[in-house]
Amino acid sequence: MIQTLEWTDHGVVFIDQTKLPTEEVYVTCTTHQQVADVIRNMVVRGAPAIGVAAAMGIALGAKNSAAKAGDDFAHEFDRICESIRQTRPTAVNLFWAIRRMREKFESLRTQPIAQIKQSLIEEAQRMHAEDIAANRAMGRHGATLMPASGGVLTHCNAGALATAGYGTALGVIRAAVEQGKKIHVYADETRPFLQGSRLTAWELMKDGIPTTVISDNMAGAMMSQGKIGAIVVGADRIAANGDVANKIGTYSVAVLAKEHGIPFYVAAPISTVDLETPDGSGIPIEQRNAREVTHIAGKQMVPDGVEIENPAFDVTPAKYVAAIITERGIARAPYQKTLRELAESARLAEKAR
Ligand code: MRU
Repeated sequence: MIQTLEWTDHGVVFIDQTKLPTEEVYVTCTTHQQVADVIRNMVVRGAPAIGVAAAMGIALGAKNSAAKAGDDFAHEFDRICESIRQTRPTAVNLFWAIRRMREKFESLRTQPIAQIKQSLIEEAQRMHAEDIAANRAMGRHGATLMPASGGVLTHCNAGALATAGYGTALGVIRAAVEQGKKIHVYADETRPFLQGSRLTAWELMKDGIPTTVISDNMAGAMMSQGKIGAIVVGADRIAANGDVANKIGTYSVAVLAKEHGIPFYVAAPISTVDLETPDGSGIPIEQRNAREVTHIAGKQMVPDGVEIENPAFDVTPAKYVAAIITERGIARAPYQKTLRELAESARLAEKAR
């Protein structure tokens, strides 16, 4: 399986996703500031991967602390969490991971500092393993929704590279293929950062899953020609009412799907569900550098001085979503009720562990 990120004795190792698909390069972060930078610069990206990276960054910062007194250590811990928090605003998994590491830290406050450091490292590693298990479970649930054969469209990269491994949307596709379904993936290239053509296609080629890359503006034509039987995407944040923030362009795909009567599915772990945000209007949308739009592979594509917009995500209203696939099962409308029930079952399962 592709190793997206890994805790090692030398630091946190990431596959550099800005270099794929032409170069397979790994970077090692030895400080939490470096981890914050790789999240910000999208060396690591994808909501669940960002969450695990955040946890590992916090564990790394704590490990590096020279504090001798509990209070000094606690202040430093706050600063570490804050620097990780300032990286990217939309994927709620980042804030979920910080909260979980903070709760772990609080539960250990009376322990010797060396013990706290070790427990934080173990917690981050546990989150890594749990994410892979969640993706496998999502795959099992979601595979039942995939057609026995034919085209499945996905947008952006919600694969092994966007998670600790296996993937959410691509995990569903992988599980369906493992069950013998004859799926042909249509991967939107996903302008401007090209996660679909660079990353999704790279992953699926490695697995030998038949894949066609299309530019984003071809999706409607593929649907009208009957080539797409289902759509499955990931999510960066799902509001309590089922509105879904995901990579820019997802909304257009969902609206087109409705017009063509094609089911539009979202696969995401419970850690992506944000019950504190009532609907999509409360989800902060990251605005990224204009250069991602103006330049392709370093070459300028638009005239100097023209105005540019670059929102990294959009919000798909819940009414377009046929089902939300989580590790705890499949939610369908009314999401207000079903998402809350699944989140509660996840909370109880976690408590019982
Ligand atoms: O900007 P990115 O590449 O971090 O955005 C990624 C996405 O939008 C993914 O679809 C989402 O995080 C789900 S990943 C399992």
